[in-house]
Amino acid sequence: MKVIERIAELRAALAPGDPAAFVPTMGNLHAGHLSLVRIAAEHGRPVIASIFVNRLQFGPSDDFERYPRTFERDVELLARAGCDYVFAPTESDLYPEPQVCFVHPRAALADTLEGRFRPGFFVGVCTVVLKLFNAVRPHVAVFGKKDYQQLLVVRDMVAQLALPVRILAGETVRETGGLALSSRNVYLDPRERAEAPRLSAVLQRIEQSINAGSTDWTRLEEAAAAELAAHGWRVDYVAVRRCADLGEPRAGSPLVALAAARLGHTRLIDNREIVDPAR
Ligand code: PAF
Repeated sequence: MKVIERIAELRAALAPGDPAAFVPTMGNLHAGHLSLVRIAAEHGRPVIASIFVNRLQFGPSDDFERYPRTFERDVELLARAGCDYVFAPTESDLYPEPQVCFVHPRAALADTLEGRFRPGFFVGVCTVVLKLFNAVRPHVAVFGKKDYQQLLVVRDMVAQLALPVRILAGETVRETGGLALSSRNVYLDPRERAEAPRLSAVLQRIEQSINAGSTDWTRLEEAAAAELAAHGWRVDYVAVRRCADLGEPRAGSPLVALAAARLGHTRLIDNREIVDPAR
């Protein structure tokens, strides 16, 4: 496996016709990322993973500076997972001059949920993802369902801009207690780590209630948010939405329950798809 920093070097290493498969990451890799690498390997070669902590998608009070950076370990994990190239640009490789052109995703998808609490987040994500796609020129790219809204926003950007890349989705990987793997889990202290699985548990209960026939979305959202708050979480949102476009839920259509909440200083997100709700 080769580690490459510069776009020109990456382009020289990759043959233009190769069906490259790409996994963009911000590093501090865990089993969830490695499962995306394995999906990529099933759909193309060479497999390229990027490691780049993208300043553009962090707000002024976000954790850009303290975001965990574990480069050597990440490179080892990627080599073992069957990756062929790691693209690890420095900020000056990817942003040689201040970025003034941005991708503004569809507001209906990007300004709700995460976008409401992290203004500019999806502009930063789409801008870097487009730039990474231009550098890697992948045939397929794999994104995790853990960042459900990001997956939909990127898919929509690809369709809108007719980008020649197929977006694949990888399932969320969870710890035994249900906690979704996330690079930010390392921030949790032991007490918070014991509490953290509640986020997936409340979403699972929403899923069970909907599968049992409940359509009182507001009551389900409020009950989940109240349970989290009662256990010390500061809740940004718990929301039931349509899988296809994150629009308001309708009985019988595939749904997703999404949540974001803070435990101490750590903001966690999670979601559960409810693909076949009771009619
Ligand atoms: O999901 C992430 O890790 C990031 O948002 C991504 C897609 C690598 C863009 O920086």
